[in-house]
Amino acid sequence: MIRMGSGAYTRDVDERRDRMQDQAGHMGDAAEADAGVGTEAAAVASASSAPEPEPSSTQKVPLLEGIEAPMLPAPPAEPRIYDWRSDEEHRPRRVLAVVNQKGGVGKSTTAVNLAAALGELGQKVLMVDLDPQGNATSGFGLDKNQRESCIYDSLLGDTPLAQVIEPSESANVFVAPATIQLAGAEIELVSSLSRESRLRTVLEPVEADFDFVLIDCPPSLGLLTINGLTAASGLIVPVQCEYYALEGLSKLLDSVRLVKTHLNPGLELFGAVMTMFDSRTKLSQQVVDEVRDFFGDRVFRTLIPRSVRISEAPSHGMPVTLYDTTGRGAIAYRELAKEVLLRA
Ligand SMILES: Nc1ncnc2c1ncn2[C@@H]1O[C@H](COP(=O)(O)OP(=O)(O)OP(=O)(O)O)[C@@H](O)[C@H]1O
Ligand SMILES: [Mg+2]
Repeated sequence: MIRMGSGAYTRDVDERRDRMQDQAGHMGDAAEADAGVGTEAAAVASASSAPEPEPSSTQKVPLLEGIEAPMLPAPPAEPRIYDWRSDEEHRPRRVLAVVNQKGGVGKSTTAVNLAAALGELGQKVLMVDLDPQGNATSGFGLDKNQRESCIYDSLLGDTPLAQVIEPSESANVFVAPATIQLAGAEIELVSSLSRESRLRTVLEPVEADFDFVLIDCPPSLGLLTINGLTAASGLIVPVQCEYYALEGLSKLLDSVRLVKTHLNPGLELFGAVMTMFDSRTKLSQQVVDEVRDFFGDRVFRTLIPRSVRISEAPSHGMPVTLYDTTGRGAIAYRELAKEVLLRA
């Protein structure tokens, strides 16, 4: 397992600043040549304590001591809004499982806000809540305690997933909700037929109705998560910017290898996303560097800042893109959505 050595944390911050200045220098060129690429520099800018900027194609935002970086183009002013059941053909671009068996690293937050940001960009998104905690369900304002049916009824019963899916307040985002009933699934699946691929089977009839399916996995490597890995074409791994961020990731990658070999050969690491980045601490940037050493270019350039608004949004039943629509958390998740679109 790769561990972050303490020596790695003693690098000179000036070196790092120089490197970021270089990156900022490249950014202007890159953004012109390849509009829409999420940029680390822009994310760092949005993670700073500077006033919260509106995204626009021309605006410059302050970046570390007077350096400026262009923001990426704003999403279309009026993206297409889809109904849940329509005759539209959608080609499922990606089924992405948001996974990390470590608890509290930002899986549900990333799943909810990325789904909302993709929806804003005119993508039709299905949010599958595969965690009995139901955080992705309540994050979209759906009451996880008062549901007639939930994903459990599809995974272990006869209810077609189409009957479980509900629209959300967030444009183009539809939710297959979870309730605490799903907690029983972890045990009940053990004795069920095709126990690892139940989700893949129930998703199949509805997949073509969506551009993206995002699956919020629970913090374990149990059968629910294995179902997520088996149904997915790619993984998004949120990594919190904190000490021991990489701990446990090799175990996750072992499970991914097993699933690839036996159940889902097409599964790939779609991207790792750094969450709760705090530009005021050296540690955050050092962890980003370590994770880049581990995952290489699979790490998204967008860094999700630590933001009170991001953490408040779920208690209002909204993604941050609706709760604090022009704040740096919303901007960061929109930048991440653009990067996801470019990779998909
Ligand atoms: N960028 C952020 N800034 C501030 N707080 C955040 C951020 N991302 C997540 N949080 C907060 O951190 C906590 C854990 O986040 P979240 O629930 O998304 O993690 P998780 O990996 O889904 O957790 P679990 O493993 O329990 O499912 C929550 O209270 C959330 O509001
Ligand atoms: Mg969660």
